[in-house]
Amino acid sequence: MNPKIAAFLCTHAPATPCLVLDVDTVEQNYRRLLGAMPLARVYYAVKANPAAPILDRLVSLGSSFDAASFEEIEACLAAGAAPDRISYGNTVKKESAIKAAFEAGVTMFAFDSEPELRKLARSAPGARVYCRILVENKGAEWPLSRKFGCEAKMAVELMKKAAEWGLDPYGISFHVGSQQTRTDAYQAAIGQVAMIFSDLRDAGVTLRMVNLGGGYPVRYRAEVPGIDDFGAAIMGAMAEHFGNALPEIVIEPGRFMVGDAGVVESEVVLVSRKGEDDPVRWVYLDIGRFGGLAETEGEAIRYAFRTPHDGGEEGPVTIAGPTCDSTDTLYEKSNYRLPLALESGDRVQLLSTGAYVTTYASQAFNGFRPLAEHYI
Ligand SMILES: Cc1ncc(COP(=O)(O)O)c(C=O)c1O
Repeated sequence: MNPKIAAFLCTHAPATPCLVLDVDTVEQNYRRLLGAMPLARVYYAVKANPAAPILDRLVSLGSSFDAASFEEIEACLAAGAAPDRISYGNTVKKESAIKAAFEAGVTMFAFDSEPELRKLARSAPGARVYCRILVENKGAEWPLSRKFGCEAKMAVELMKKAAEWGLDPYGISFHVGSQQTRTDAYQAAIGQVAMIFSDLRDAGVTLRMVNLGGGYPVRYRAEVPGIDDFGAAIMGAMAEHFGNALPEIVIEPGRFMVGDAGVVESEVVLVSRKGEDDPVRWVYLDIGRFGGLAETEGEAIRYAFRTPHDGGEEGPVTIAGPTCDSTDTLYEKSNYRLPLALESGDRVQLLSTGAYVTTYASQAFNGFRPLAEHYI
C-alpha cells in the first residue's frame, strides 16, 4: 500500500468509511501518461474524481480537462483552468448548459447526433466540435455499451453539416470502455477514425484532432497491461494510419489518473454465517454499493482488500454493504477469500479506490452519511 496513505491512516485513524487519496500519486500518473504518449494532450476526465485538490494540482501541471456537465466546468474554472483547456465531452447536454459553457469561454464540444449538433450551432456558434463514434468495447471491465457514439457513416454526414452550420469541424472521438484491458481495442478504433478522416477529406472537410477517450486501466485484483504498452500500441496505430500527417491527439484518462492514488478505509460491521456448517461467511462492511462502490454492480470492478490478519488462514466470503437493500451485496461470485480471524470492528482497506467512488456515494440512503474524503 502507498506508504503516505498508510502513515496517514495510522496517525489519524479517521472515522470510517473514508477515502484517503495521495495527490502526489495523481501527479506521477499524469507524468507517466505523458511519458507513454508524449504527443498527446491530457484532458483529465473530471467525473473520475472532481475533488478540488486534484483539479488544483492538475491545473498547476498544465493539464486540460474533460467535463461532463456545466457543474464540472465550473469546478475546473474555480481551480484556475483556462476555459480553452476544457472540453465539454458529454454528448447529451441541455441547451442552457451549452450556452452557459460557451459564455464562460469553453469552445470545444462533443456530440453524436444531429439534434445535439443543432443545439451547438445555435448556442455555441463557431465552436470546435468533435463527433463521438461507436466502437467495440470488448476487453473493457466497465463497458459503455451503445449509450454514446454514432456509426461512422453518420459521423461523416454530421461533420459535413457541422461545417455548413458555421461550426468548426474539429475531430472524432471514441471511448473503448473503462478499465480496458486490451491494447488492440484502441488500434481497431484508430483504424475506423482514419477512414472517417479520409472520407471527409475527399468531401472537402479537413479534420485536425483525434480524441482517444479514456479506458486506461488500473491494477485491481488482476494484472493489466502497463501504460507504456498502451502508449506503444496507440502511437504505432496512429503512425500506421496517419503517417507523417499526425493530427492533434487528445486523451481523456479518468480511472488511470486517480484510481491507484486512493484507498478506502472501512470498518467490518459483522461477520456471520447463514448456517452452522456453511463454509461461506458474510462480511458486512460500513461501505457498500450505495456508499460509493457502484462499480461493484455485476461484480464488474473487483477491488483488492487488505486486512489486519493478512497472511493468516483464509476462507470463502460474500462481501456486502451495510444497508437494508439486497442489491447492496458487493461480491458473491468472484471467489473472494478473507482471513478466518476477521471480526467486527476490524478496519480493512480497499485498494485503488480513487476513481469513481466518492461521487457515486448516495446522500443518506438508510441514513448513512456520504463517504468522507481526505486529500493528502
Ligand atoms: C467521455 C469520457 N471520457 C473519458 C472518460 C474516462 O474514462 P476512464 O475513466 O475509463 O479513463 C469517460 C468515462 O466514462 C467518458 O465518458
